[in-house]
Amino acid sequence: MAALRHAFLTCLILKAVYADIYMHNPRGSNNRWNENGRNRNNANRMFDSQNNNRGGYNVGSVYFHVGSNVQIEWTNQHSCGDQNNHCDTILQYTCGNLVRDGTTTSTIPDNPAQCENLDCNEDRRYGMHEDYFYYADCKLRSRNKGLFTADRNVGSSATKTRQNQNGNRFGYECPEERDYYPYWGPTPWRDIAVLTNDVTRCAMYQEESQNVKGRYACKVGMTYLYQNSNKNPSDYIPITQRECEAFKYTENNEEKYGVWTLYDPHGIPAPDCVVSQWSRDNHLGNGIGGETLNYNWTVPDFPNDHCTLRIRYNITTFEFDRDNTTSLQNNRVRNDGPGPDVWSRHGLSESDGKDRGYELEGNPEINIFGLENDKLNLRLAINTAQYGRTFQDRSHTFAIVPRPEDIPENAVIQNIQVRGKRGNIVQVYPAVEYDFVPNGLVMTVGSYAHFQWTGSDNNPANNDGQGRASTDRSNVVMLGAPVYVEGNPELYKTSTFGQLGRSYPSHLSDATLAGLSDDDKTRLAILYPHRGGDMVELDDAGTYFDLGPRKVTMTGTFNYMCTRNNNFSNRSQKGRIIGTTSIYSQARIDSNGGKVTVQDSSDNVLTSVEVPSGSLTEGKSIQLVGVSAEEVSLDSLPPNTDFISEFVRLEPENEITNHPTELLRMEIKLNDDVTSLYEPNLYRSNADTTSWEKLEIDSHENGRVVFSTRSGGHYVVAKTVAAGPMAGLVIGLIVGVVLIVGIIVLVRKNGGLLQSYKSKV
Ligand SMILES: *[C@@H]1O[C@H](CO)[C@@H](O)[C@H](O)[C@H]1NC(C)=O
Ligand SMILES: *[C@@H]1O[C@H](CO)[C@@H](O)[C@H](O)[C@H]1NC(C)=O
Ligand SMILES: *[C@@H]1O[C@H](CO)[C@@H](O)[C@H](O)[C@H]1NC(C)=O
Ligand SMILES: *[C@@H]1O[C@H](CO)[C@@H](O)[C@H](O)[C@H]1NC(C)=O
Ligand SMILES: *[C@@H]1O[C@H](CO)[C@@H](O)[C@H](O)[C@H]1NC(C)=O
Repeated sequence: MAALRHAFLTCLILKAVYADIYMHNPRGSNNRWNENGRNRNNANRMFDSQNNNRGGYNVGSVYFHVGSNVQIEWTNQHSCGDQNNHCDTILQYTCGNLVRDGTTTSTIPDNPAQCENLDCNEDRRYGMHEDYFYYADCKLRSRNKGLFTADRNVGSSATKTRQNQNGNRFGYECPEERDYYPYWGPTPWRDIAVLTNDVTRCAMYQEESQNVKGRYACKVGMTYLYQNSNKNPSDYIPITQRECEAFKYTENNEEKYGVWTLYDPHGIPAPDCVVSQWSRDNHLGNGIGGETLNYNWTVPDFPNDHCTLRIRYNITTFEFDRDNTTSLQNNRVRNDGPGPDVWSRHGLSESDGKDRGYELEGNPEINIFGLENDKLNLRLAINTAQYGRTFQDRSHTFAIVPRPEDIPENAVIQNIQVRGKRGNIVQVYPAVEYDFVPNGLVMTVGSYAHFQWTGSDNNPANNDGQGRASTDRSNVVMLGAPVYVEGNPELYKTSTFGQLGRSYPSHLSDATLAGLSDDDKTRLAILYPHRGGDMVELDDAGTYFDLGPRKVTMTGTFNYMCTRNNNFSNRSQKGRIIGTTSIYSQARIDSNGGKVTVQDSSDNVLTSVEVPSGSLTEGKSIQLVGVSAEEVSLDSLPPNTDFISEFVRLEPENEITNHPTELLRMEIKLNDDVTSLYEPNLYRSNADTTSWEKLEIDSHENGRVVFSTRSGGHYVVAKTVAAGPMAGLVIGLIVGVVLIVGIIVLVRKNGGLLQSYKSKV
């Protein structure tokens, strides 16, 4: 009876507890291939997501240029960047000629006999990320016995973990590698970034990343792996040097020993590590300010036609010390340890705590009132396989391709894509409805916008939407010109093209989109070179569209829409590009500090801001914008307008740090440097640019000023006559009347110089 009750409870828990992560751009598969059901067919196809069966996007591939920017977007269900749990989000990618999406929803077999030519790696019907030998090695390798496994009876292989006790297989993913990061063995995954609630961990993540640090493992012959991958070995491949060198195995009837082998690091920079963005519990939605949780990925110089992106979301509660809980604390149920110390965090002794249910076990009953005979116990819903827990999503394959030769090395290429899938908000959940990614974007004239998207023809047949059932299609056309300005002063600006609040596109043949050519606008509108067919709702176009990178040549605000999917009141598919001559740079910086640098087109540093470690107490998006005097729009000017620098806007425009000593260090390049004759004066405006204050300059050399500040706003440097000649003038006055004539000459001379300098500016 007790066993039955236990089984029933376990079953309830497995059903009830999900805290998923879904990647929306690039399209996360959630193990879906190309399926027209609302639920994906096979949760084991490629990797262990631990997500709900719904969600995921059908297969569809795109490509990204080296060095281009991809805005990775996701939603996660159980909060991050918040006090509710420890949260780490790990972004990685891998590329390889065997990496593929496959053409079936079945899981790749791990028995070669079930694959074409007995070679699963080459049986391209099956989707595959990690390869056959990687999984065979995981299966035949010993798991790390030092890990905390709670009260779980976890077997011996690295395919078995606290979260995957039965060693269930998900493609060729190694469950132990999936559950632990940084992993101790070699993996094909290259780290992009770790987002963590606790940035004091960053140094560790960056040092331990396989990007920069090699991994040792016990190497055995591939034939051994191949011949034994379906057997239960008597000895598992060890994970320590001593045991490895003593590890005897038979391959082709020959006795061999394991070879302790160093696998080189990937040889790429350590991953970025920044504080998690905030999100709330029980909610697959946006973060602060309505911005989808995102990370801007600069595509590495690693051209390959077969790449995939992986995101993991790891959450742990504060019940015990996540870092110092090892196999020594495994639960007393198995008599090998006391269980993790939950009790002292509640001020209880071990025996008292355990008596009252303060220990990590399945659904403990807690005696909070300390009543005798467990009179009023309250049961908690606790599953020891889920304290903590990791979720995952991965993209379909994409290619990384070299930059086009005619695009300068240092030019920004921004990918603009479409996320979402056909259906109304309830039908697509936990995926999302259509939107452009990014849907609002500032682009410097001379940088490149790369419009490209993919979709599917195989969405559930009854999902709402325009055009032929089941299909995704999108296009880009300029919205109708602004018609009303009430309450929206931005529209008074003549530089706004298309009004986001409208639903009709512009019919004007000269409607402009960031200066794109007529031919490009036509392509974006009717997905040209498509000709003929049924195109009112773009039905006869394909799911995939690519314009290639196009130079932004115009300033202004360009608001565009998709004619097909923008069914007002049910869906909105609109985007914005702000073209500007300002050059800018942005980064999310946290208490570890960081630096934002803006360079002009010839790579000269125009301005930079350095945020010292400890200056910030939370993550902030810091942006630095170099604005030319012509483009800046201000409500007032500083008292001195003899400018010798561009305007620089530091955002956020109010106080950034209130730390007593760790101020931001900023530098601004001067347009002209005549140190001996003029003195630079630094001014900063308040956020609404109605007033200016003069700031101290710390140093002035090599044509730039360096200073400390705690706030954003507009900064500019103006010049005044240097103290040297002025002092001379005063002394001259004192020397006497005799020299008056001479002094007048000197003053005139200075004035003349000033004039000629002015006309140069
Ligand atoms: C998840 O967090 C646990 C600590 O609770 C840690 O042991 C594990 O390595 C982490 N796994 C991943 C994939 O981040
Ligand atoms: C990514 O870049 C976009 C601009 O393209 C910006 O709005 C967004 O805040 C950036 N994300 C992060 C996490 O910094
Ligand atoms: C783990 O325990 C050791 C010693 O017991 C201690 O030095 C270390 O700070 C602990 N680590 C954490 C993260 O608490
Ligand atoms: C727009 O959505 C409505 C539902 O509000 C639907 O009835 C209508 O058919 C849709 N329009 C088109 C052109 O599909
Ligand atoms: C459009 O939204 C309304 C609610 O605003 C809903 O009743 C209707 O079913 C939706 N129609 C479509 C086609 O999504």
